Amino acid sequence: MNDKEVERQVETILGKLSLEEKIGQLNQVGGADFAPGPKAEDQIRKGGAGSVLWLNDTQRFNELQKIAVEESPSGIPLLFALDVIHGYRTIFPVPLAMASSWDPAVPEKSQTVAAKEARAAGLHWTFGPMIDIARDARWGRIVEGAGEDPYLGSAMAAAQVRGFQGRDPSDPERVLACAKHFAGYGASEGGRDYDPVYLPETQLRNTILPPFEAALKAGAATFMSAYMDLNDVPASGNRFLLRQVLRQEWGFEGFVVSDAFAVANMVIQGHARNRRDAALRGIKAGVNVDMSSYTYVENVAGLVADGLLTEAEIDELVRPILAIKVKMGLFEHPYTDETLLAQVVSRPEHRQASRWAAQRSMVLLRNEGGLLPLKKDLKKVAVIGPLADSMEATEGSWMVFGHTPAAVTVLAGLRAKLPAAQVTYAHGPEIRRDIPSWFETSMAGMERKPAQSPADAEAAFQAAIETARAADLVVMVLGETAEMAGEAASRASLDLPGRQEELLKAVAALGKPVVLVLLNGRPLSINWAAEHIPAILEAWEPGTEGGSAVADILFGDAVPGGKLPVCFPHKGSHAPLYYARNLTHSPEGSPMYNPRYWDGLPEPLYPFGYGLSYTTFEFSNLKLSSPQVKVGHSLTVSVDVTNTGSLAGDEVAQLYIHQQWGSDTRPMRELKGFERLTLQPGETKTVNFKLGPDELRYWSTNAGQWIQEAAEFDIWVGSDSQAALHTNFEVVA
Ligand code: NOJ
Repeated sequence: MNDKEVERQVETILGKLSLEEKIGQLNQVGGADFAPGPKAEDQIRKGGAGSVLWLNDTQRFNELQKIAVEESPSGIPLLFALDVIHGYRTIFPVPLAMASSWDPAVPEKSQTVAAKEARAAGLHWTFGPMIDIARDARWGRIVEGAGEDPYLGSAMAAAQVRGFQGRDPSDPERVLACAKHFAGYGASEGGRDYDPVYLPETQLRNTILPPFEAALKAGAATFMSAYMDLNDVPASGNRFLLRQVLRQEWGFEGFVVSDAFAVANMVIQGHARNRRDAALRGIKAGVNVDMSSYTYVENVAGLVADGLLTEAEIDELVRPILAIKVKMGLFEHPYTDETLLAQVVSRPEHRQASRWAAQRSMVLLRNEGGLLPLKKDLKKVAVIGPLADSMEATEGSWMVFGHTPAAVTVLAGLRAKLPAAQVTYAHGPEIRRDIPSWFETSMAGMERKPAQSPADAEAAFQAAIETARAADLVVMVLGETAEMAGEAASRASLDLPGRQEELLKAVAALGKPVVLVLLNGRPLSINWAAEHIPAILEAWEPGTEGGSAVADILFGDAVPGGKLPVCFPHKGSHAPLYYARNLTHSPEGSPMYNPRYWDGLPEPLYPFGYGLSYTTFEFSNLKLSSPQVKVGHSLTVSVDVTNTGSLAGDEVAQLYIHQQWGSDTRPMRELKGFERLTLQPGETKTVNFKLGPDELRYWSTNAGQWIQEAAEFDIWVGSDSQAALHTNFEVVA
């Protein structure tokens, strides 16, 4: 359908709506028991709802849709929305893991499958991708994003949007994407979830906003305004973000939904005087949809009657919602076939895609003495740790509402890989959050289990050691449980929680070969392990086929090739820590160099971009198409990558730049290109990167705008953010 036809239909529909029905389109009702407000069906019947969230039941979707279409005065179909973050029924690696693939095909394919399953269940709209840049690993929601870097983050954001939405909004196997949380949420002070964010425009524009602009360019139909204060203005009442940047500068034509209750929360934040004032501020800022705080339905008609808002302002917010419903074909096909989901989720290619995505997402952190890949003739293997047989930890945080984890755990994956071996298992002492999550206790209504007694923990500890003692090789599966990362899951420390490190040390002291597999949703300060455990695989929260993928990698049926999308600090107190910092006045590495802390260098334990394979690589022949380029023009950087080992393997060629001087100071390194390669032993491939105005411009504080300058640039190309292969070029006026 062309734009003119959509517009015509929207105007026809809009012309028939009462003011109350228009406001209804701006109201998103909660379909779950914990959601406040009147019963969903009553609101829908009155025409007081445009969309529904926190419901995951196809039959119920159809019932509510029937009320909307057949009983409400306007007959406008509802949009059903839910958080489908990394899979609907077939669960994929968490987004931080997908970003570790450094292969945009991974998130694109994963979200394509997620969209198929979610749509088959009757959902139209996911609250993803989450594309907040996060440089503080203490922040729990780092798991949902692509890590610390705007360039990598932009590639992952666009790929996810393409996966969810495809090209055509009427595609019945796709869902609408929602770029969230706009904007700055990942920079909360101290990494404390929901805390205020202070970001100067240079950081906002150069670091935080690029993934959002990339999502928009990839076609993201919707955006979600964030919860927190950005520079003292709540993001959901923030005209600078929602009007100036998103609509005026970027030309966004879709619609914005607030985060849950965020419009009303502006009262709690001390911004709005009362709920009526909050509604006014939300509308004025351009928040189209009020996510379940009911401030719009309660107040907007009165605000129009009192002349504080015009009906034209309401129409402007309703139009893009109607346009999307028209484009999706919802008016023609409002219902979902209730037999469809079962057929779609049983497609074997979905599980295969999940296993492939998990293999590509894992990062090999250490492999001393070539312990990995393991040989399949092992006789006795002990698998130890609180996460070794946990489906929850394997699927990870942000499960779809109401989903029951059903993953292949690491234990199950290893048993399947070694049918003839004796694979024993011990859990070890339990790990748990000191303070429970609201999501566990209130939302899921789960009773919290009493903590394990110290005596039981000790017995579990000893049992684990005995299990390890009887084996030839030990696989330790440690990290964080699913509820230790995610929303409201920030931590002050990045150590392995509970007695895990103590257990690791005790098992290592037995003198057997030990492989450490980490399941976690954030960087962890595994300092001791990084020195003493020969093989460490960062498996993240790898999804439904996670355990199979771990076994594939450990035994060489798949090669590791993921790279860290975020650096691993030595200590939680080093956060925020990231590679793209500015230089100081004191030369790095010189005797004058200020180590910044006298009790330990804040160098990362593992740098951004780091990861090993089972072979070695060499970068050589770094060449530029020209040593000089004019402002506004492009040059090509080429480099040869050779597999110098004896096994096939994957490497990610990474290009970093540094502008040596200019209007503003620029980061000492910035990623501006990457490509993941598979190389056979002895094979060489040439990688070409383009550097042009898009890569070389930046938002300047001094100039108050985007600029590209004549200056000298450094280039490094290599296997991580500490790459040494270097050259220079000059941009001339
Ligand atoms: C709150 C979270 O911040 C957001 O990411 C999510 O989409 C909404 N709740 C809806 O569940």
